[in-house]
Amino acid sequence: MASTHGAHLLRRATEGLHADGRGGFAPRFPLARVGERRAVIILFCGDVVGRPGRDAVKRHVPTLRQEFAIDLVVVNAENAAGGFGLTEGLCGELYDCGVDILTTGNHVWDQREIIPYIDRDPYLLRPANFPKGTPGAGWRIHRVGGQSVLVVNLMGRLFMDALDDPFARLDDILADHRLGDDLAAILVDFHAEASSEKMALGHFSDGRVSAVFGTHCHVPTADGQILPGGTAYQTDAGMCGDYDSVIGMQKEPATRRFVTKMPGARPQPAEGEGTLCGILLETDDRSGLARTVEPVRIGGRLAVHLPRR
Ligand SMILES: [Fe+2]
Ligand SMILES: [Fe+2]
Repeated sequence: MASTHGAHLLRRATEGLHADGRGGFAPRFPLARVGERRAVIILFCGDVVGRPGRDAVKRHVPTLRQEFAIDLVVVNAENAAGGFGLTEGLCGELYDCGVDILTTGNHVWDQREIIPYIDRDPYLLRPANFPKGTPGAGWRIHRVGGQSVLVVNLMGRLFMDALDDPFARLDDILADHRLGDDLAAILVDFHAEASSEKMALGHFSDGRVSAVFGTHCHVPTADGQILPGGTAYQTDAGMCGDYDSVIGMQKEPATRRFVTKMPGARPQPAEGEGTLCGILLETDDRSGLARTVEPVRIGGRLAVHLPRR
């Protein structure tokens, strides 16, 4: 990949980085003067699985971005490379179609080349509750239309690897970063298996962040809402991938493994047209909390749902 090595980062570096070195980008559509608070419109998409997921993002993100005047696109890319991890080249592909920030989860290290790369990419996050000393960053502040948005990536512990406490880690982060002070929005991708743990983190964060959106289960849930304290919440954003599958992977071998309880060949992504599954969030211009939250589903097999305008 010598021809593309670092090209997307070089291109994005010219868009402007924070002086504090934590990354960020100049707005594509600078709508606000510095110091003027305004609502932020964020599209968050769940786990991108293989080529169908990448194609769905490439096909739909540019038009969604324009149609809904989206300021920031955040996509969980932990399954972008054939279902297992992601590569530098695939990060570049996703940035090139209008994705701003990539989050990940338990599959982040599946492609080993990402380990030496992740510290060079200020737009790529891994869960913040990995042990101290893990490469990469779990949260960053990005510039959006002249304002600052904090994106946090966390991973659950119920039925998953035993990482550090995501609740305590979020508390630590929020102790230093308060919504409404310098931050126009705070978005949390909680990559977790158990709906109970996800709901608990939503309530734990209620009133302190703009949104807690779940990933990892690869199925969109119908519980999108604004919690009593003003935080948008949805247990799972759903995957971007082919839904004629078992969580994005070819259905026959995946089913056979359950039936026979025998290992098979390495699973491959299903190859049909992917559905883009995500959530559109609009924040309140004064508080930074959620003003509206609506699911987005487009393409592939699932019923289309686009937010009201
Ligand atoms: Fe996933
Ligand atoms: Fe996952």
